[in-house]
Amino acid sequence: MMSVEEISDGIFEIDLDDRKSLATRNLMPGISVYGERLIEEEDEEYRLWDPKRSKLGAMALKKFEIPITYDSTVLYLGAASGTTVSHVSDILRDGLVYAVEFSPRTMRDLLQLCDQRPNIIPILADANKPQSYAHIVEKADVIFQDVAQPNQAEIAAINSKYFLEEHGHLMLSIKSRSIDTTASPKKIFKDEVRKLENVFGVEFEVLQRKELDPFHEDHLGLVARMFVDDEE
Ligand SMILES: C[S@@+](CC[C@H](N)C(=O)[O-])C[C@H]1O[C@@H](n2cnc3c(N)ncnc32)[C@H](O)[C@@H]1O
Repeated sequence: MMSVEEISDGIFEIDLDDRKSLATRNLMPGISVYGERLIEEEDEEYRLWDPKRSKLGAMALKKFEIPITYDSTVLYLGAASGTTVSHVSDILRDGLVYAVEFSPRTMRDLLQLCDQRPNIIPILADANKPQSYAHIVEKADVIFQDVAQPNQAEIAAINSKYFLEEHGHLMLSIKSRSIDTTASPKKIFKDEVRKLENVFGVEFEVLQRKELDPFHEDHLGLVARMFVDDEE
């Protein structure tokens, strides 16, 4: 029998081939989303989760406290074709993920995933314009953002102002090369964290930050909690 340990709500570490692998419990048994291996154990099916293909997966393996729970409402910015969103969907047994992506071609792949998984709501929109999806998205417990854009901090702040529950959590992947290819990643990360501290009247308390190497070079993972300045 293999050992399966739940390290956070809906996120598991499985001892496999003499090493630990990350996995989620498959919401749609028998279906592999991006070619990942399916593992049966004690009447449950798990999908292996490749941290090299997912910033959230890398954050889980790097021992971040993941604020997503079984019944969370999550706003996911930069969904792409849904590799990571599919694992979020596995975690959210009683929750919902709004998946925002602005590339129509990529959205076509995401729509196929949404056909199989009713807890993903796809939104074709630019994350710079939260007002364009404000009529669809409800308040979120967690915003996860992986958009690889130069104005990542601003996008996070404005979406938090629109959609994040007071004291909700922001999870951010910051790619230094999307901001500046010449400056040192450490300096860029410091500047971005400072920008997050008070943008658009939204204040964040950074709870955890770590670089995501060796899974993703020159990326910082960050978890912050939001406070709203009512005086604004
Ligand atoms: C690094 S990929 C995301 C990978 C995905 N999070 C995963 O783990 O499966 C970044 C995605 O963000 C999308 N993106 C970039 N800027 C965006 C914006 N302003 N609004 C919405 N999506 C955006 C890109 O089209 C791309 O699909």
